[in-house]
Amino acid sequence: MEALDLIRTLTARPAVRSFIDRPVPMEVLTQIIEIARWNGSARNRQPWRFIAVSYKERLEKLSALGAYAQHLATAPCALVLLSADNGFQDTEFDLGKVSQTVTLAATALGLGSCLATIYPESNVTKAATLLRLESGWRPHYAISLGYPGVPLTGTRAITTGRLSTSELLSTHRP
Ligand SMILES: Cc1cc2nc3c(=O)[nH]c(=O)nc-3n(C[C@H](O)[C@H](O)[C@H](O)COP(=O)(O)O)c2cc1C
Repeated sequence: MEALDLIRTLTARPAVRSFIDRPVPMEVLTQIIEIARWNGSARNRQPWRFIAVSYKERLEKLSALGAYAQHLATAPCALVLLSADNGFQDTEFDLGKVSQTVTLAATALGLGSCLATIYPESNVTKAATLLRLESGWRPHYAISLGYPGVPLTGTRAITTGRLSTSELLSTHRP
């Protein structure tokens, strides 16, 4: 496949919140991080770390730490994204970049994925305690990872589809 088509296909893959009962091998997780670690970041700070969680009871606890994080409990694995608590404005931008690469690599490896936002900040602190994090790292997001199951049905609170290119892109004229 042409590189452009490949990027288009991987990027457009919808979020997956339903998984079959099949573990995600450690080698697959390692492969994902091996790719994601090459992301650029502001001042090359690499303000990210990752914790793979596959212990069911821990996934259930994490799933209660965000209003829309329930899918973490149904996934065989969650990759918790740790942001450096360094006060730099660009840290969460860097985390967004690296999480997109994780998602693309996971998709290319046949996995489905969905982000979960851990919030409010009191829940981020609870997640940090649950994961026994060293100080200086904040778990703001986690990514459910697993082999896709039957897509969920029923009404969705959020829309699918995307704005058109013409709605998104305009030209600045002198
Ligand atoms: C920053 C960010 C946070 C997100 N947080 C959640 C979340 O907490 N729970 C959830 O189910 N999906 C979450 N998502 C997934 C979005 O809902 C999803 O990307 C969007 O609805 C488009 O879905 P689609 O690709 O299936 O059309 C998040 C996505 C992003 C980029």
